[in-house]
Amino acid sequence: MGLSLKTLLVAGAALVAARPRPPPPSPFFVNHPIYTPPQGVRIMYPRVSELRDGTLLVAANVFGGDFFVGPDGNIPAFPVFESKDGGVTWKWISNITDQVNGWGMNAQPALLELRRPIGGYKPGTVLASGNSWSASGTRIELYASKDKGRSWEYVSRVTEGGRPNTTNGADPVWEPFLLHYEDELIVYYSDQRDPKHGQKLAHQRSKDLKTWGPAVNDVAYYDEYLARPGMTVVAHIPPLKKWIVVYERPIGNSSSHGANYPVHYRLADKPTEFDTGDEFPIVIDGNFAPNASPYVVWTPWGGKNGTIVVSDADNGDVFVNQRGADPAAWKRVKTGQRDAYSRALHVFEKHPERLAIIGGDTFNGSDFELTIGVLDLKKLLGEQKPRPGKPGRD
Ligand SMILES: *[C@@H]1O[C@H](CO)[C@@H](O)[C@H](O)[C@H]1NC(C)=O
Ligand SMILES: *[C@@H]1O[C@H](CO)[C@@H](O)[C@H](O)[C@H]1NC(C)=O
Ligand SMILES: *[C@@H]1O[C@H](CO)[C@@H](O)[C@H](O)[C@H]1NC(C)=O
Ligand SMILES: *[C@@H]1O[C@H](CO)[C@@H](O)[C@H](O)[C@H]1NC(C)=O
Ligand SMILES: *[C@@H]1O[C@H](CO)[C@@H](O)[C@H](O)[C@H]1NC(C)=O
Repeated sequence: MGLSLKTLLVAGAALVAARPRPPPPSPFFVNHPIYTPPQGVRIMYPRVSELRDGTLLVAANVFGGDFFVGPDGNIPAFPVFESKDGGVTWKWISNITDQVNGWGMNAQPALLELRRPIGGYKPGTVLASGNSWSASGTRIELYASKDKGRSWEYVSRVTEGGRPNTTNGADPVWEPFLLHYEDELIVYYSDQRDPKHGQKLAHQRSKDLKTWGPAVNDVAYYDEYLARPGMTVVAHIPPLKKWIVVYERPIGNSSSHGANYPVHYRLADKPTEFDTGDEFPIVIDGNFAPNASPYVVWTPWGGKNGTIVVSDADNGDVFVNQRGADPAAWKRVKTGQRDAYSRALHVFEKHPERLAIIGGDTFNGSDFELTIGVLDLKKLLGEQKPRPGKPGRD
């Protein structure tokens, strides 16, 4: 968590159903609505998972208004939306509710469909995480759905910290990201509990989804207490046999080319070894840096090394690298999809030339609805044969 929370806590009216709109004429479109909240309600920080049958699930967090569950109607939950036609039409199929704390699922959802069994859960199970918080603490919880996102059962608590407070010295946890790697589930998160760091990135692992190993550092600056690396997202880059982690890296009041939360990345042979990986900032043409809440995916399109695609909070455009993550080779590519806080990217498994960009509101509040763009990478990158291989999910 980098930016202040209080701007997110905005009051508003009850959510209503999205107005029907004409479907787009092709598989490619931008700023196409998934869900339109009424004025005063903010929906943001979407996360996406493609199921084995091609269904897309999107979960997001909601601030303000009466989108709330519980006896007093005051407990937040993550709405879950489903599309069976590549993002054209969407149905609100469930809410991921807090079943253990009485606090709500407040922010920062994560989603992952299992392709291999783990912890007694079969392939096809959808795992969800998120931050459940109150004035008493922040808890990263794990839930599971055995019916493709329609209902959710509690699995376990990954970890917990102090109350939500982004001031250095406070001790909350934030922003889980899920990866099934070998025989373990990895849950990455941002961690303010270590007194040596304002905030660092760490992960914990489990083989049974019930017991969790110790926190292992991914990005921690031993000489810069003020640094607050945040918002882990990880992807596999098969041709390099490497894993990439992207994150924002604010340091006190310094900036990179005007970006106060400049996006950085590290590469490692294993997604458990980022702590010793080389680090690079993303800088375009030596004079422009993407800012805040990055996301990363890899697609086989775009040449021998495929293409790494990164998004940030402040730009509709995305940032691509077709030269094996060479720090000098980042390019900015126009998308037409609007900017948003903590957008999610997705490469369709059976159509790796299709890039989805999903975003809700901006951090500072622009009343943006939850929308998706599906872009043709052949057009974005120029016609180039894909290399063999699948989009890297694990
Ligand atoms: C999600 O929760 C809201 C608020 O209680 C409710 O209005 C909505 O019907 C729920 N949606 C689903 C699909 O359960
Ligand atoms: C937030 O954390 C800082 C640093 O520990 C502390 O001084 C401040 O009182 C905390 N604020 C709240 C509202 O808990
Ligand atoms: C950044 O913060 C330091 C310490 O508070 C201060 O001395 C410095 O002037 C600040 N720099 C800028 C550019 O605001
Ligand atoms: C809000 O943030 C967006 C970037 O996400 C920026 O383009 C816009 O100018 C900001 N608006 C205000 C009022 O600061
Ligand atoms: C692919 O990536 C590797 C590793 O970074 C690099 O050595 C090689 O030059 C790249 N090839 C192309 C065609 O970009």
